[in-house]
Amino acid sequence: MSKRIDVESLNVYYGDFLAVEDVNIEIEPRSVTAFIGPSGCGKSTFLRTLNRMHEVVPGARVEGKVNLDGEDLYGRGVDPVRVRSQVGMVFQRPNPFPTMSIRDNVLAGAKLNSRRMSRAAADELVESSLRGANLWEEVKDRLGKPGSGLSGGQQQRLCIARTIAVKPDVILMDEPCSALDPISTLAVEDLISELQEEYTVVIVTHNMQQAARVSHKTAFFNIAGTGKPGKLIEYAPTQEIFNNPKDRATEDYVSGRFG
Ligand SMILES: Nc1ncnc2c1ncn2[C@@H]1O[C@H](COP(=O)(O)OP(=O)(O)OP(=O)(O)O)[C@@H](O)[C@H]1O
Ligand SMILES: [Mg+2]
Repeated sequence: MSKRIDVESLNVYYGDFLAVEDVNIEIEPRSVTAFIGPSGCGKSTFLRTLNRMHEVVPGARVEGKVNLDGEDLYGRGVDPVRVRSQVGMVFQRPNPFPTMSIRDNVLAGAKLNSRRMSRAAADELVESSLRGANLWEEVKDRLGKPGSGLSGGQQQRLCIARTIAVKPDVILMDEPCSALDPISTLAVEDLISELQEEYTVVIVTHNMQQAARVSHKTAFFNIAGTGKPGKLIEYAPTQEIFNNPKDRATEDYVSGRFG
């Protein structure tokens, strides 16, 4: 079930270093939101606060709130492991478990989270997740083969299938196409457009055309200089960010003048 993300006054630290300052943003359910901005402005850092992956780094912490349908993910007693099953993440480099079969890769996250699953239930989950990731037809005859035997684009869709299998509310993707060729990139972009019918999708990208193609809203982050915190500068419908931005820095960035 797709959920709304509502971030209030979020500061994100690595130890004493304030990496991202005072983010306020509301992300609609059943939509795709793109995060853009120059390298080092904190896109990945901020993205990882949305499923409590940030705090995995020693000394990393946040101040502020991240509400998922009104529940603060950083509230007292909230289990980060449960948060990560509600808010799934797909990384830049496809990272299937190399020695595991395609089938077991799909089931890897779901098995960690749930009780015993019958063989039939597992089969069904494998098929529905691979179909959801637009990969079923390509792999249905070799489910027992290792995930590492797939092409890069197929591996990324396998990772998306693994994420879907957990039945999350939100899917976060950090530059999911940057290691892919153009054809695989389009396949993953098509998939992202389909995923928004069921999930809240947030994607970090350096590819302006990609942001324009897949997202409804775009958030532009920027940084004033090395050692300074990244900030959310402008957040608006994607069309507006690209055609009629309010902020000068946004305009310079989307028109390729820096970053
Ligand atoms: N594990 C870490 N420990 C300490 N500082 C970090 C860590 N990861 C990132 N940072 C710092 O936080 C800031 C934001 O980095 P982040 O990786 O979020 O940027 P980004 O916008 O995703 O950049 P890119 O577009 O290059 O991926 C940078 O100054 C970076 O050096
Ligand atoms: Mg990054």
